[in-house]
Amino acid sequence: MFDIGIDLGTSAVKLLLVSGEGKVVRSVSRSYPLEFPQPGWSQQNPQDWWDAILDGIPELVAGIDPAEIGGIGAAGQMHGLVAVDKDGNVLRPAILWNDGRTAKETDYLNYEIGKDFLLEHTGNIAFAGFTAPKLLWMKKQEPELFAKIDKVLLPKDYVNFRLTGNYVTDYSDAAGMLLLDVANKQWSKEMLDICGLRESQMPELHESFDVVGNLLPDVAAKLGLPETVKVVAGAGDNAAAAIGTGCLHEGQCNLSLGTSGTVFLPCEEFRMDPVNATHAFNHAAGNYHLMGCMLSAASCLKWWVEDVCKTTDYNGLQAEIDPEKLGRNHVYFLPYLMGERAPHNDPAARGAFIGMSMDTTRVDMTQAVLEGVAFAFRDMVESARALGITVDRSTLCGGGAKSDVWKTILANTLNVRLDQLEEEQGPGLGGALLSGFGRGQYASLDEATGKAVRFRGQILPEPELTGRYEEKYRVFRSLYPALKEIYQTL
Ligand code: XUL
Repeated sequence: MFDIGIDLGTSAVKLLLVSGEGKVVRSVSRSYPLEFPQPGWSQQNPQDWWDAILDGIPELVAGIDPAEIGGIGAAGQMHGLVAVDKDGNVLRPAILWNDGRTAKETDYLNYEIGKDFLLEHTGNIAFAGFTAPKLLWMKKQEPELFAKIDKVLLPKDYVNFRLTGNYVTDYSDAAGMLLLDVANKQWSKEMLDICGLRESQMPELHESFDVVGNLLPDVAAKLGLPETVKVVAGAGDNAAAAIGTGCLHEGQCNLSLGTSGTVFLPCEEFRMDPVNATHAFNHAAGNYHLMGCMLSAASCLKWWVEDVCKTTDYNGLQAEIDPEKLGRNHVYFLPYLMGERAPHNDPAARGAFIGMSMDTTRVDMTQAVLEGVAFAFRDMVESARALGITVDRSTLCGGGAKSDVWKTILANTLNVRLDQLEEEQGPGLGGALLSGFGRGQYASLDEATGKAVRFRGQILPEPELTGRYEEKYRVFRSLYPALKEIYQTL
């Protein structure tokens, strides 16, 4: 039997067809627009996600006996607010994870409700991209629409609703709403009250691998699949990526270098970060995790290559980088193009190039972009190390994992051994494995990842280069504090 993994990303949906042996046999991708209606705002139309999936799945399964498709598991961009009315109609464009419009609401939660209260009831403090501040924003700015909310969904929950007709979510994704009591795996009545919501407006909570429905008859007909196809609750994309990279247990680490950048650290027991630089969320494997998240990672390279250099020749631009110049660049880049989450929690932060001179070239700037993202990863890894967590090896997934030079820069900036995966499509593979486990293809998630996750070598940090990057990182670390006040005035 096969499983379909849906990776509902920010720029595109990636669909994977995965065999019962955990092998990706086919993948199909469909992109959709992302709107930035004001600087720092970020929205998408949920109907575009659905249209992309309806269009992509028939191509994904073409030529396969439909009776051989066992299940579907979705991994979704986290935190996005999808508000639907009593007929299941979307009330406004989804406000995404990297949207920074809620600075006031975030401050209200952190400083008036208070961080201690938030930590007691959710395990986390407020960040601009989380769902609760978005609900407060909608309540204040769009009261008529807010009054019509029947259900509050996350992006992949909306997809699961269209697939099955059921309103469900999973713990790993719900954790990012700031409405879940993460430690106790239940909605926080206190937080729902603060946001003006009733529990009946929330989707039903599940483990990521729980089967939560079958395909609706009309959907099955459109997709060319039988109604017997099971749908599991799925997971937030980072938790799903951790499943897809075999990062299930304490002591492991996965880095995701996608539109966002994340450092994902599973833990067996619930634990919080006393300085809140990392989020304390549930893992899709049933345990917990700590996670640092930066808002613009591979998206910085996309911006630089496509929007500034006006090309799509990613390889060509990166090939110009001289390996001898690694760790010797005089240009620095701050990757805060959408503000920043970890560790600064500052929606007003913005990107910056610093240190240019008359001999600076485009290549230096390309290199600075890759390095700036790596330094921001280092900030997150340092937050984890400050908690006593050893981070000396990791898997890496996401679009950025295709770049050899970026991997070398990362391994040396972080002083971490990178275990290279054969399959870097973490979230989609994770979704498919959750589906396979949920419907009984595998006896455990360990068995599923044991079959599916294969390696093809390692990238080892080199002491000399690590030393050079250590010095550069110290300079990088001094740049945000110097600009912090200025960002407020931009
Ligand atoms: C995690 C986060 C991002 C999105 C990207 O907290 O906001 O990684 O999930 O899709």
